[in-house]
Amino acid sequence: MTGASTGMGASAARELARRGFHVLAGVRRDRDADAIRADGVEPVILDITEPEHVRALAARVAADARPLRAVVNNAGIQVNAPVESLPMERWRWVFEVNLFGHVAVTQALLPALLDSGGRVVNISSVGGKVAMATYGAYAGAKFALEAVSDSLRREVAPLGVHVVVVEPGGVRTEIAHRGVATANDLAAGMTPAQHERYGGMVEATNRLMATGTASGVTADAAALVIAKAVTARRPRTRYTVGRDAALITRLVRVLPDRAVDRVVTTNLRRHYPKA
Ligand SMILES: NC(=O)c1ccc[n+]([C@@H]2O[C@H](COP(=O)([O-])OP(=O)(O)OC[C@H]3O[C@@H](n4cnc5c(N)ncnc54)[C@H](OP(=O)(O)O)[C@@H]3O)[C@@H](O)[C@H]2O)c1
Repeated sequence: MTGASTGMGASAARELARRGFHVLAGVRRDRDADAIRADGVEPVILDITEPEHVRALAARVAADARPLRAVVNNAGIQVNAPVESLPMERWRWVFEVNLFGHVAVTQALLPALLDSGGRVVNISSVGGKVAMATYGAYAGAKFALEAVSDSLRREVAPLGVHVVVVEPGGVRTEIAHRGVATANDLAAGMTPAQHERYGGMVEATNRLMATGTASGVTADAAALVIAKAVTARRPRTRYTVGRDAALITRLVRVLPDRAVDRVVTTNLRRHYPKA
């Protein structure tokens, strides 16, 4: 389980331990390791962008006689900014964490999963199916994670490994506060002209993100879906989390782009600053 310090990663680590699994819970700081350590939850220091950490994880897994049941690629960062103003190094960083980190962890642990007939569970997002304004980088990486998951599923299904995608809508975790703080920092770096063009949009997105997450399901509820993805004997290729995600993922499958534009624009307009 990557990203187990907070949110649905922490909840899912505990839920899986409760069900009798031994969970290697990836965290980045010693204090998070101390907080998550419990019966059945063994913290490992894991920044998924650090090749040395990923190698150490693979060595830890290889040294264990127990079969590896699943790799849950859950770590993620929320970065919202208009395509025009997000600095290129931040674009790359979002993909580094939200896509390449997962690929690196998956590559490192795939030999163990092939041995055990285990599975990969990738935590995507409703943002892996619809890309709202200012979500270019985040949704871009999540769309890519969806595609990589499809490719991988078709590569390893004949070898006995399942690949499952989980698509949460709003879930009450740390991610929204972190995302709003990041969006505000990035907005502070916009030029006056960019402010003129996108300032209201960024504020509205922040409000929408905060309210969407606050009205979302709990991290414990999301953890139950992740646990299902890990344990179902014949898992579906995708599970949504929350009614919002179930509805939106269905809508975008059938609605034309312009209709989706109208839905997301109308939804966002309610959150624009009054002036
Ligand atoms: N909450 C939602 O509404 C929602 C909706 C759709 C999808 N998701 C997805 O669900 C997943 C979990 O998010 P959450 O909502 O539970 O958010 P969260 O509470 O912010 O948790 C994110 C986790 O990712 C970790 N992380 C960030 N960068 C990392 C890196 N480089 N290496 C390893 N770990 C890293 C964080 O660790 P630190 O504490 O060390 O930063 C934290 O443990 C993410 O992939 C997110 O995109 C969330």
